[in-house]
Amino acid sequence: MNTAVVYYSLEGNTDYAARKIADSLGADMLRIYSKKVYPTSGFRKFFWGGMSVVMSEAPDLEPYEFDSTAYDRVILGFPVWASNITPPLRTFVTENDLRGKRIAAFACQSGNGAEKAFDRLKACLGIDALEAELVLIDPKDKPSVDNERKIEDFCVALRND
Ligand SMILES: Cc1cc2nc3c(=O)[nH]c(=O)nc-3n(C[C@H](O)[C@H](O)[C@H](O)COP(=O)(O)O)c2cc1C
Repeated sequence: MNTAVVYYSLEGNTDYAARKIADSLGADMLRIYSKKVYPTSGFRKFFWGGMSVVMSEAPDLEPYEFDSTAYDRVILGFPVWASNITPPLRTFVTENDLRGKRIAAFACQSGNGAEKAFDRLKACLGIDALEAELVLIDPKDKPSVDNERKIEDFCVALRND
């Protein structure tokens, strides 16, 4: 099973999880970057990120290489923003044809909203279900046994699938 972990991370929590997942599964990794610069501190961070979600933006991405035909499975990772997927991930899923792939997803959040975000991701992809879902609470900034166990369980489920 050729697997790619494709993710966006503003402040490193999703990146932290993506590295663990890719390492555990022996998957390729692609971190996408938005050309639009999102603030990383204070009120501006939530305001401009939230506005981008509300406006359903799909910001241009920095150039990247991704050949979807090389993968059977794609694991999409993102921080939850306003109970939604992050706009750069929206760009990625609209730019790439992922039909027929196994799609799993993981979301990092500080409180809640991931379930709605997964529903929105499925709607973007035009699918009814994800192969596996993982929700983490700020895994880099708030290290916890629970996060680590959930990452491992997610990888075991995918490895056995
Ligand atoms: C614009 C913005 C909106 C956010 N909205 C939510 C939210 O709706 N629910 C939540 O639990 N966390 C929310 N967060 C917190 C992040 O999802 C969380 O801290 C995540 O772990 C950050 O991942 P990252 O370090 O990979 O960027 C938001 C953060 C930002 C910047």
